[in-house]
Amino acid sequence: MLEKLNSCGDDFIPSYLHPLFGANNDAEMFSQMVWISFFYTLSVALSMALFPAPYGRYSSSKYGFLLPAKIAWITQESPSFIMPVILLLTTSSAFWNSTVNKMLLIGFIIHYVNRSIIFPLCARGNEDTPFIPYISAMAFSIFNGFMQGHYLLNYYLYDEQWLTSPQFIIGFTMFCVGMAINIHSDQQLIHLRKPGETGYKMPVGGLFEYVTAPNFFAEIIEWTGFAIASCSPPAAVFAFFSTVFLCYRAWHHHHFYLKKFDNYPRSRKIIIPFVF
Ligand SMILES: NC(=O)c1ccc[n+]([C@@H]2O[C@H](COP(=O)([O-])OP(=O)(O)OC[C@H]3O[C@@H](n4cnc5c(N)ncnc54)[C@H](OP(=O)(O)O)[C@@H]3O)[C@@H](O)[C@H]2O)c1
Repeated sequence: MLEKLNSCGDDFIPSYLHPLFGANNDAEMFSQMVWISFFYTLSVALSMALFPAPYGRYSSSKYGFLLPAKIAWITQESPSFIMPVILLLTTSSAFWNSTVNKMLLIGFIIHYVNRSIIFPLCARGNEDTPFIPYISAMAFSIFNGFMQGHYLLNYYLYDEQWLTSPQFIIGFTMFCVGMAINIHSDQQLIHLRKPGETGYKMPVGGLFEYVTAPNFFAEIIEWTGFAIASCSPPAAVFAFFSTVFLCYRAWHHHHFYLKKFDNYPRSRKIIIPFVF
């Protein structure tokens, strides 16, 4: 039974996904997926230069019917960890035995269990999510969850020496530290509102004294660390996407606060302490 389940993913990928990407093998498919992610990132950069991503404080029914924010976050983000779990159960996942492959994939899954379940359940946001950003986020989660999961489970094997290499130690440390600061900063923002309160307050304390968006800064460190630790093209293009998306979002938030609060500290940077 388990063997049958294992083989169905191993058959499905070459039979359906390789042709979908015009590829003959995994190497060609990953190459196409990385290019698609790259061009998608450029299109996101272009649109966010013109207007903010329409969710949270910028939510608007111009972008489709509105879904409750908690349900939207849970269902749009959870494919990011569900895809690797499906791959683990339905493909041979030969590289799951490698310590490095396992650490990277578990790190990725932990991040997305927090992002998809814990973060939205804690959030006290009141703005619903329009359908277009919702469905784009969900498509991205499916695509990226598959790309990262398949790469680590079935495509690239890291040997035990990689575990003690400077790239892995530095990158994985950045990933863990980034994740801790990201979660802490998100919690600081969430707790600006008391339960039932609405509206936006000026964030103060900790890293918020230096930048408008330490949660985004930390997430960029996290995915840059993941890319360094894995030296993989799928991780690198995801770090690129996160950097572009979150820098623009931080820029929009910064201008939102400058407009909203007359006393917003002028010395506070947007996203990189002391720099930008
Ligand atoms: N890797 C990626 O590409 C990527 C992309 C997007 C997001 N993310 C991550 O997902 C997380 C959430 O992203 P986000 O864009 O929703 O972040 P956000 O705009 O900073 O909001 C985070 C939470 O804090 C609340 N909040 C923010 N500022 C507030 C203020 N001044 N007063 C009161 N409440 C405030 C928000 O409520 P409202 O919802 O009501 O605004 C929301 O619940 C972040 O950790 C981010 O790094 C990652």
